Amino acid sequence: MTDRTVPRTVEWIGDLDGHVSMIDQTKLSTELCMIECHDVESIHDAISKLKIRGAPAIGIAAAMGVVLGIRHYTGSDRAEFLEDLDNVCDYLAASRPTAVNLTWALDRMRRCARSSGQADISQLKVTLLEEAKRIRDEDAAMCRAIGRHGESLIKAGCGVLTHCNAGGLATSEYGTALAPLYTAHESGVPFRAYADETRPVLQGSRLTAWELQQAGIDVTLLCDNMAGSLMKDGKVDLAITGADRIAANGDVANKIGTYSLAVLSQAHSIPFYVAAPSSTFDLSVADGSQIPIEHRSPDEIRRGFGTLTAPANVPCYSPAFDVTPARLVTGIITERGMICPVDIDTIAAIIRSDTSGQDT
Ligand code: MRU
Repeated sequence: MTDRTVPRTVEWIGDLDGHVSMIDQTKLSTELCMIECHDVESIHDAISKLKIRGAPAIGIAAAMGVVLGIRHYTGSDRAEFLEDLDNVCDYLAASRPTAVNLTWALDRMRRCARSSGQADISQLKVTLLEEAKRIRDEDAAMCRAIGRHGESLIKAGCGVLTHCNAGGLATSEYGTALAPLYTAHESGVPFRAYADETRPVLQGSRLTAWELQQAGIDVTLLCDNMAGSLMKDGKVDLAITGADRIAANGDVANKIGTYSLAVLSQAHSIPFYVAAPSSTFDLSVADGSQIPIEHRSPDEIRRGFGTLTAPANVPCYSPAFDVTPARLVTGIITERGMICPVDIDTIAAIIRSDTSGQDT
């Protein structure tokens, strides 16, 4: 996912009357195919069904979805247009609750519409499309900057363990947790990546292993319950994951299993890093206990990918995310630099409540 041999994760095709094209991530790693979304309902469906997933990518898709949702407004009443826009944003915000990048991007679209002095609604629609594309382009730049800030962590010959998918497929391009790996690889540093399979829907095996192989990076796949053994064998020098929301005190919500990995890392004295852009920080929540955690259908566990692997009616515990306490996080790699140690003061110093000016 570092060059254009693979299509962009999510892209706007054409002008205002165009559409959104995205890689259908439920089909990978066996099939690389695109979904074309022409209305806001198909964007909502794609996000809630994980056809597009990963915190920054769903923010970009939602911003583009806003344009699909309001472009057919035919009136000339600005207040009515803004009310329609709010309804579209509220609808998209409900598609997934944990990743703050989704509401962050939707809030940017709301602010863009309100701060634009344009009385002409047709011009305002074009301005909103430009804002959605800007969110996409800024994300790509932030990921590159994360790569530069995290590159020195990847030493020649080291082993890097990651969980879920925080690569190009989860962002506009390049990724967050995978960005330092891509940057080090481009600099010619030899290392080995280890990808946790990531039960229940296998983002690690279907997406991370696939995109690292596409980039020519040496990657080895393991089941989630093998990470401790791998560490004990001395194969892991550091772990890097992405994040869906980071609270003001540094608690990190990310894919279920991230917390276990952080505990295992501490038990083996292995540094545990999180990589995330400023759009993933939510300074309005004091700590991780206030982050809403999505629970998904028990059938993702009982009959993953259509095959029944458990009693059909057995109750399941199925949170999509967990919260890793800040004390287990060695550092957070952002587009503005490394936050280390991780606490309320070091976060406030780098991530101000105004995250609109990006230092990329
Ligand atoms: O349920 P998913 O696949 O959307 O979960 C994704 C993750 O947990 C990622 O690690 C996170 O969104 C960071 S993506 C750069």
